[in-house]
Amino acid sequence: MTAGLVDRFGRVHRDLRISLTDRCSLRCTYCMPADGVPWLASSTLLTTEELVRLARVAVSLGVTEIRLTGGEPLLRPDVVDVVRALAAIEGPDGPLDLSLTTNALRLPALAAPLRDAGLARVNISLDTLQRARFIELTRRDRLADTLAGIEAARAVGFSPVKLNALVMRGVNDDEIGDLVAFAVERGLEMRFIEHMPLDGGHTWRREEMVTGEEILSAVASRYELEALGHDGAAPASQFRIVGTSATVGVIASVTRAFCDRCDRVRLTADGQFRNCLFAHEESDLRSLMRDGADDARLAEAMQACVALKKPRHGIDDPSFVQPSRPMSAIGG
Ligand code: GTP
Ligand code: 5AD
Ligand code: SF4
Repeated sequence: MTAGLVDRFGRVHRDLRISLTDRCSLRCTYCMPADGVPWLASSTLLTTEELVRLARVAVSLGVTEIRLTGGEPLLRPDVVDVVRALAAIEGPDGPLDLSLTTNALRLPALAAPLRDAGLARVNISLDTLQRARFIELTRRDRLADTLAGIEAARAVGFSPVKLNALVMRGVNDDEIGDLVAFAVERGLEMRFIEHMPLDGGHTWRREEMVTGEEILSAVASRYELEALGHDGAAPASQFRIVGTSATVGVIASVTRAFCDRCDRVRLTADGQFRNCLFAHEESDLRSLMRDGADDARLAEAMQACVALKKPRHGIDDPSFVQPSRPMSAIGG
């Protein structure tokens, strides 16, 4: 008899984020260096069979939601097969809530097959609507492809489609209103994210971060807002634009940490189980599995990892140290 994925503080973990690859087709400055990225060795990457087995074990421990992340998850050649296999897993309360966070570049080709394979929703990163800025930010000239990907996601009927913008001072903080207008015109939910200290280059500075409060005043200078609170354990605080059905989200992970309601665990592309974005320890499920562990042993390892989860990320503590694994290899 298992007790599920419950930590010392009584937090129950129902949301598993699986990174499908650490590779990406963009090189966002806040996430990856321009070159010389230390890629994960291919022999360490989980096969689809291994990944699906671990997902099944996590579901047996109460996971009801799976989000696929990267790097860029659509770069995994068999991503549609992964989605199909995960969609076939019976969750504790029926079908799993299966979603994906992407840069959208491959969505024109993949949106329809992914939808057919059982993917329910997608979140798409869009930090700017200006081509020159996009090139500066991502080091690639692909804004048109991102926009085509957003259209493809709408066209096949993913619902909702959420757009994520990481707000950076002096880079895109003057575009908050334009991004909201872009999303509202298309019936999409725009969300703004506080920059967290997870970038490979360790460039994050607390005093330079654009806070959720500042983001909100920028939106409020253009739209009248009504606070809706947050959806269950989700990180975004939501606001309705008065007089419309459109909502805007603010993910203030630093200034308004949501650790006390956190229900997330993570599996990296190389099979390491993490109890927090900011965790320094990982549980090596890949080695356990390749050494012949049975499902019960894998479940125990997941539970032991969750039992060690810290109460919060501690970004504002003087003793805070950024994890050595960069965001691109954790999966956002
Ligand atoms: P839904 O609410 O299910 O749509 O997804 P989401 O917002 O959790 O997922 P998404 O991948 O779009 O994440 C958006 C942003 O939330 C990420 O880029 C992170 O900045 C932040 N985030 C996601 N998960 C965590 C987490 O566990 N801890 C913290 N501190 N931030 C997170
Ligand atoms: N802080 C907050 N969010 C980040 N993302 C990438 N790096 C960071 C960071 N340092 C976000 C991207 C994308 C998601 C996958 O993770 O904006 O929406
Ligand atoms: Fe959960 Fe860690 Fe994110 Fe806080 S920082 S919400 S504890 S994963």
